[in-house]
Amino acid sequence: MIAKEEKDIKGLKAAGNVCARALKLMMDSAKPGMTTLELDNIGEDFLSTEGARSAPRAMYNFPGGTCISITPVIAHGIPGDHVIKEGELINIDVSAELGGYFGDTGASMVVGKSKPEYDKLLEATKSTLAKVLSLVQAGKPLNIIGKTVQQEAAKHGYNPIFDLTGHGIGLQLHEKPSAVYNFHKPDDRRLLEEGLVLAIEPFLTTGKGHVVEKSDGWSLKTVDNTIAAQFEHTVIITKGEPIILTV
Ligand code: CO
Ligand code: CO
Repeated sequence: MIAKEEKDIKGLKAAGNVCARALKLMMDSAKPGMTTLELDNIGEDFLSTEGARSAPRAMYNFPGGTCISITPVIAHGIPGDHVIKEGELINIDVSAELGGYFGDTGASMVVGKSKPEYDKLLEATKSTLAKVLSLVQAGKPLNIIGKTVQQEAAKHGYNPIFDLTGHGIGLQLHEKPSAVYNFHKPDDRRLLEEGLVLAIEPFLTTGKGHVVEKSDGWSLKTVDNTIAAQFEHTVIITKGEPIILTV
């Protein structure tokens, strides 16, 4: 959506904030020995206490309140009986609707003790998102996002995941523009418009940068079983710095 009116900006900020707090709560709660379903319940209970509802469940009948992906799964992991292990690289993605507005945020993390290989990928992915957020501005090419993600990934020795994109958001979880690529696409001539609400979500991997769907019909894992990480924020594009909604 294009959000310029105060009412819309306020509603989007409230939705984004509840997603951010649910994500933080889940990241703080993630401990070895708990199942991904237990962790999901913590997040979804928080959302409902706040008057929000899980967007993937409401929109797509996703079998979970949030997406919890255990590497090499990097997106749409279904919460279930998987017992989280010490040192596991996981991704938590929270999207929710509050008052008719949608927010979407995600983060990768290691539960318990990490290792340098994971820390390096997490740091690179997080700094890639920060770099993109420092560059997006009304009037610039939309593909400044993809170009920057690919450049930053390469700088750190990684690939972006070419199959996974960001997206427009606002009054639905997924709106136009539908494919906010995470790679440089010279023929993408779209421009960033003032007020455009976008979910920006770089995915970086040590592998070739492609995913396949698992037999559960949801989980997307790297095709080469390599590790991957994602960080995501929902933002409003302005003439200056973007308004980051999922904080
Ligand atoms: Co998300
Ligand atoms: Co998203």
